[in-house]
Amino acid sequence: MGSNISNLMILFFAMSFLRVTSAWSVPQVPGFFIFGDSLVDNGNNNGLLTLARANYLPYGIDFPEGSSGRFSNGRTMADIIAQLLGFRGYIPPYADARASLSILRGLNFASGAGGIREETGDNLGQHYSLTEQVENFGNAVRVMRRIFRGNSTKLADYLSKCIFFSGMGSNDYLNNYFMPNLYSSSYDYSTKTFAAILLEEYTRQLTNLYDLGARKVAIIGVGQIGCIPYELARYNTDESENRTHCNEKINKAIAIFNKGLVKMVDRFNAQLPGSKFIYVNTFESSKDLVKNAASYGFEVIDKGCCGVGRNNGQITCLPLQQPCDNRTKYLFWDAFHPTEAANIIYAKKAYYSTSHTDAYPMNIRQLVMA
Ligand SMILES: *[C@@H]1O[C@H](CO)[C@@H](O)[C@H](O)[C@H]1NC(C)=O
Ligand SMILES: *[C@@H]1O[C@H](CO)[C@@H](O)[C@H](O)[C@H]1NC(C)=O
Ligand SMILES: *[C@@H]1O[C@H](CO)[C@@H](O)[C@H](O)[C@H]1NC(C)=O
Repeated sequence: MGSNISNLMILFFAMSFLRVTSAWSVPQVPGFFIFGDSLVDNGNNNGLLTLARANYLPYGIDFPEGSSGRFSNGRTMADIIAQLLGFRGYIPPYADARASLSILRGLNFASGAGGIREETGDNLGQHYSLTEQVENFGNAVRVMRRIFRGNSTKLADYLSKCIFFSGMGSNDYLNNYFMPNLYSSSYDYSTKTFAAILLEEYTRQLTNLYDLGARKVAIIGVGQIGCIPYELARYNTDESENRTHCNEKINKAIAIFNKGLVKMVDRFNAQLPGSKFIYVNTFESSKDLVKNAASYGFEVIDKGCCGVGRNNGQITCLPLQQPCDNRTKYLFWDAFHPTEAANIIYAKKAYYSTSHTDAYPMNIRQLVMA
C-alpha cells in the first residue's frame, strides 16, 4: 500500500515536472523566417486575387485549424521544421502580422505562385515574388528596430541567431519556363542560361536578406517537378500508356539549377562574413521517397489524393471535392503539392540527416548550433 502511494507520488511528481518543462521549453532559436512558394505558404495569398489559393476545404482537412491557406491536407515542411525547432503554435503569415513583439518569433512570407523572376506565376494572378517577400521582411525589420529601441547591435545579434528558410524556384520552371504558350523564356534561353539567370537574381535577393541581418539560411532545392501528377498527366497523354514516367527534360533542367544552388551556398559562406548557408536537397529526398515508397508507407506515388482528370493531376483539388480516404498512403495531396505525410519526411531529413546528399554542408539542427 505504502509503496503504491509512493509510486503514485513519483508518477504525480513526474507528470507535473513534464508539464512544467513543456510550458517552459523554449525554442532552439529566437525566430524562424520563411520565404517561398505554395509549398510553404500558410495564408499569405488568402486576400489576393489569384487562382493560387487554398483557403477552402478539403485543403487543411487534417490541419487542426482547418483550411488556413496551406496547399496540403495538413502541415507544410516549414510547419514541421518550426516544431522540430521547438516552436509551439505556428509561425504566422506576414499578411496577418501586427507590429508587435510577437513578430520576433518569426514570420512566414511565402506566397503561392511566387518565384525568383518577377513575372513568374502571373498566369495565376496576384502573389508575392521573392523580391517582394524580402521587401516585406525589410518592413518587419523596421518594426524590430523599434522593438530594440534603435539598438543596432542588439538587433543584429538577435537576427544572427534566427533561422531563415528559403524554398524558391519551382514556379520559375512550372509557371514560367515550361509553360511555353504563356512565357517566352524557353524560346529565349537554353535551360543552362535560364538557370544562370535565376541563380544571379536569387543571389541578389539573398544578399539583400543578408544585408538586412540574416545569417543562418537554409536554401531548399527544387524537387523533381517532372514527376508531379500535373506533369505526369501532361506528359503521358496517351490513355493506354503507362503514366508513371517522369518528364526527364524538366528534371534535367532543374538539376542544373540545383547544382548552381550548391555553388551559391559555397560562395556565400566564403564571401559573406558571419554567414552560414546550407543547401537542403529535396530533389534527392523526393527520389528516395519514390524509390523506397513502400518502406515509407506510401502506396500511391503518381496520383494526387484530391484532383481531377488523369493522375488526378489535370485540375487541382476543387472546393468541397471528396479527397482520398487514406492520405498517409499518398505522396501527393493534389496535382502539385505533397501530403503532410511526405512533408514530415522532407522536414525530418532537412533537420536531422547527417548525409551531405540531404543537407550540405550541415543539417538544420547543426545550423542552430553553428
Ligand atoms: C545596445 O545593446 C547592447 C547589448 O545589450 C549594450 O551593450 C549597448 O550599450 C546598447 N547600446 C546602446 C546605444 O544603447
Ligand atoms: C510502369 O512503369 C513503371 C516504371 O517504369 C514500372 O515500374 C511499372 O511496372 C509500369 N506499370 C505498368 C502497368 O506497366
Ligand atoms: C484507400 O481507400 C480506398 C477506400 O477506402 C480504397 O479503395 C483504396 O484502395 C485505398 N488505397 C490505398 C492506396 O490504400
